[in-house]
Amino acid sequence: MAGEVLRTKTFATDAADFILAAARGALERRGEFRIALSGGNTPRAVYSEMGKRELPWQQFQFTFGDERCVPPDSNESNFRMANEALFRPGSVPESSIFRMRGEIDPREAADEYQKLLDALAGKRDERIYQHDLILLGLGDDGHTASLFPDSQALSEKQRRVVANHVPKLNAWRLTFTFPLIFAARAVCFLIGGNKDAKLIERVFAGDPALPAARVQKEAQNVTWIIEEKS
Ligand code: 6PG
Repeated sequence: MAGEVLRTKTFATDAADFILAAARGALERRGEFRIALSGGNTPRAVYSEMGKRELPWQQFQFTFGDERCVPPDSNESNFRMANEALFRPGSVPESSIFRMRGEIDPREAADEYQKLLDALAGKRDERIYQHDLILLGLGDDGHTASLFPDSQALSEKQRRVVANHVPKLNAWRLTFTFPLIFAARAVCFLIGGNKDAKLIERVFAGDPALPAARVQKEAQNVTWIIEEKS
């Protein structure tokens, strides 16, 4: 569902403010904030800004919308980026961090993570784990999380987490599926100032070739925070 679009020159601060306002609302209502982190480069500055704030991190559940199939100390690892930018500086307790194990067999890692989310959902009698907020990026080919154009994961209707082979990268990824993303209360795209404006317009126009366009159309409460280059 089309949501609001915030274009800003103070991207990291405004995105951190948006995320932490969502956190305060969830903590007040449910005593817990379930947030999925996105990977890539853009979110690093936002996570650094979050890590400077005083928050009850023990009441957060940090999941990952996707992960590369690499060890956690690889410079490709989305966990490593979040750990360096947020978890360590913010002293986030390990009990609040749910890492996808990119270092093991991709299918096993996807099954393991799906079981983890299902167990957490079961504690709240939920059919499917419901995030309060899922952060997402936008790849230059319109991918989001690791839902890449022409990849198998796009057609997944039941599973919540899958291993997805990405032909163009000749690599495996772990990723949330559309069903899990659509179950979230809210979604926020974090878009760096270098992202092609025409690509963003194609997403907003609902171009079916772009996985991000499907999220824009079918997810709940979609917000776009787009950096404006000064
Ligand atoms: C990943 C991400 C991916 C990312 C986009 C955009 O693992 O790479 O999850 O979906 O969000 O590729 O990345 P940038 O924001 O760095 O352009």
